[in-house]
Amino acid sequence: MQSFAGRLGVVTGGGSGMGRELVLQLASEGCAVACCDIHEDEVWHTSDLAGSRAPKGIRVTAHVCDVSDETQVLRFRDEAVAAHGRDHVDLLFNNAGIGGGGSLFTDSRATWERTFGVDFWGVYLCTRAFLPLLVKSSEAVVVNTSSVNGFWATLGPGVPHSAYSTAKFAVKGFSEALIEDLRMNAPHVRVAVVVPGHIGTDIVTNTRRILGQAAPGAVDDAELETWRPALVRAGAPAEATTEELRAMLGLLEGAFKANAPLTAAQAATIILDSLRAGKWRILVGADAEALDAWVRRDPESAYDYPRTGGAFLRPSAAEE
Ligand SMILES: NC(=O)c1ccc[n+]([C@@H]2O[C@H](COP(=O)([O-])OP(=O)(O)OC[C@H]3O[C@@H](n4cnc5c(N)ncnc54)[C@H](O)[C@@H]3O)[C@@H](O)[C@H]2O)c1
Repeated sequence: MQSFAGRLGVVTGGGSGMGRELVLQLASEGCAVACCDIHEDEVWHTSDLAGSRAPKGIRVTAHVCDVSDETQVLRFRDEAVAAHGRDHVDLLFNNAGIGGGGSLFTDSRATWERTFGVDFWGVYLCTRAFLPLLVKSSEAVVVNTSSVNGFWATLGPGVPHSAYSTAKFAVKGFSEALIEDLRMNAPHVRVAVVVPGHIGTDIVTNTRRILGQAAPGAVDDAELETWRPALVRAGAPAEATTEELRAMLGLLEGAFKANAPLTAAQAATIILDSLRAGKWRILVGADAEALDAWVRRDPESAYDYPRTGGAFLRPSAAEE
């Protein structure tokens, strides 16, 4: 697909971060978009912004949908095609995602399964729901967002990351398995898997909202203590008071966005340029490319990173 102009794209998780930027960039190129999010105000804001940047006559519609709930996904699909008056869809971006559910020991089962449900079942359910409409297009693409945690299941020492990583491995496996299924059964539809490194978005805050977790300033002392080892690794003094730990947690939440090597807009541009170039395996960021090479070079040692310092997405740190 050389150009997105005149197409209809569907973007999940369009209310923030990479999803919002994909919507804005697609619309400004003349692609009609139906975007959904679990957060109503944010997805409406995205459609307002996109509408103001799109060429005349290009529609961007906003829909409220929890992608892990099949009833809501089917309603979103029906609303989207009705709103756009089309009988097919050309692009499906399965982008919605949250973190969470890091540990089988210290996180609740509900949190683990909620994270896995959004990050894997959301991708699966939306693919199933939209597949008949993609097949009706003359040329279509399903774009599934995995992560570097889809090939390296950790954020580094002291930070268990199991639900998210398991789901992102599943998204990668599902996408790669779809390659042959589509070649056999719908060769005009292809699949791409997006593997972002660290991108500056509000995913930490959005995850907290969706999982119903307290803001950093309101985390209770007992929970804060479970964070102590990770916060000390991130630079807090070992004997920090709970107030100091609380403040540091808040700083880290903001730092995730502020210190990322790529913005969400830059990531969306890389994704769309890669799709135009016909790529199916889209690594986003130099950190993702370096980690991919590092894990492939010596998979047996992939989890033997140093036990001190923050190795988050820093293969150079892991190589020290
Ligand atoms: N930011 C990163 O560093 C990074 C790295 C690798 C992969 N990713 C992945 O990229 C994708 C986009 O993340 P982002 O960083 O832009 O985050 P973000 O929080 O800025 O955007 C994600 C959007 O998805 C929405 N969402 C969450 N759960 C939903 C649900 N059940 N139904 C519908 N919408 C839902 C959120 O409300 C939010 O608007 C996610 O799949 C994420 O896992 C992000």
